[in-house]
Amino acid sequence: MSALSVPAIALTRGTNGEEVLIPQLGAGTYKVADDEAERVVRDALEVGYRHIDTAQMYGNEAGVGRAIAASSLPRQDLFITSKLNNPNHRRDDTLRSFDATMEALGLEVLDLFLIHWPLADSTGIDLVDTWRTMIEILHSGRVRAIGVSNFQPDHLHRIVEVTGVVPAVNQIELHPWLIQAELRRVHTQLGIATESWSPLGRGRLLSDPVVVEIATALEVSPAQVIIRWHLQNSLVVIPKSTHRQRMATNAEVFAFTLDDAQMSAMDALDRDVRTGSHPDQIQV
Ligand code: A2P
Repeated sequence: MSALSVPAIALTRGTNGEEVLIPQLGAGTYKVADDEAERVVRDALEVGYRHIDTAQMYGNEAGVGRAIAASSLPRQDLFITSKLNNPNHRRDDTLRSFDATMEALGLEVLDLFLIHWPLADSTGIDLVDTWRTMIEILHSGRVRAIGVSNFQPDHLHRIVEVTGVVPAVNQIELHPWLIQAELRRVHTQLGIATESWSPLGRGRLLSDPVVVEIATALEVSPAQVIIRWHLQNSLVVIPKSTHRQRMATNAEVFAFTLDDAQMSAMDALDRDVRTGSHPDQIQV
């Protein structure tokens, strides 16, 4: 089970001050059912992935945990992320559900815990209070870094202004049809690492003619071109596949590069198209 050689990004915010390195390429588990998650994560680990992304909402943390336990890999070789589910924003629920996450994953310490969605208006619970509870969990030492997901600039500015603690990561929908230029500028200003979910646009971008043309020219697959675009943009990228062979080829992205013209052509695909929900429309 030798590890892929994947570059890491240092998380400079939202930690307890220790060095936390997030591998730039990880395996996503969105929509992988719990009974399939063990097999999918086992395949990912065998292929060489060491960064696994799950969430309370996915309902598959126990399956992910079984695969981690069965792998017998040294804990320090793995980077595991999970996310707080929408109904759990109240302090007691946040603490209880974090305990349940750790139990399901079978971990003493999590690498990264994120608020999954900003629910500023729909719950009656102030997002700042939820972030304060995340900080409490960070200070408990049971997580190495805390962050957020699907936060817009106003959400980020608000929690940072009130608490002074900047999220390590904002995990957002990001792919060449939604390049999120404004949000990425805010992340750079604040020192937040950007993580791309649905990096392949849930597979829809694989048939984009520009992507296919670049793939043909480089003799690689469309998925490899898109993953390479994320990596060259210093993004953390978590493509999801339930197929072991695709997991393997999706990780073969370190022996070629996109040139400036190819990167620009990919950027020019931006059309503000989402495959998932808009953060402002999410309700519990
Ligand atoms: P599957 O799980 O059947 O392999 P995203 O990461 O943007 O959410 O995209 C995930 C989708 O892309 C899934 O439907 C996945 O299907 C598909 N996918 C992932 N990698 C590849 C690949 N190399 N070739 C074709 N489809 C892929």
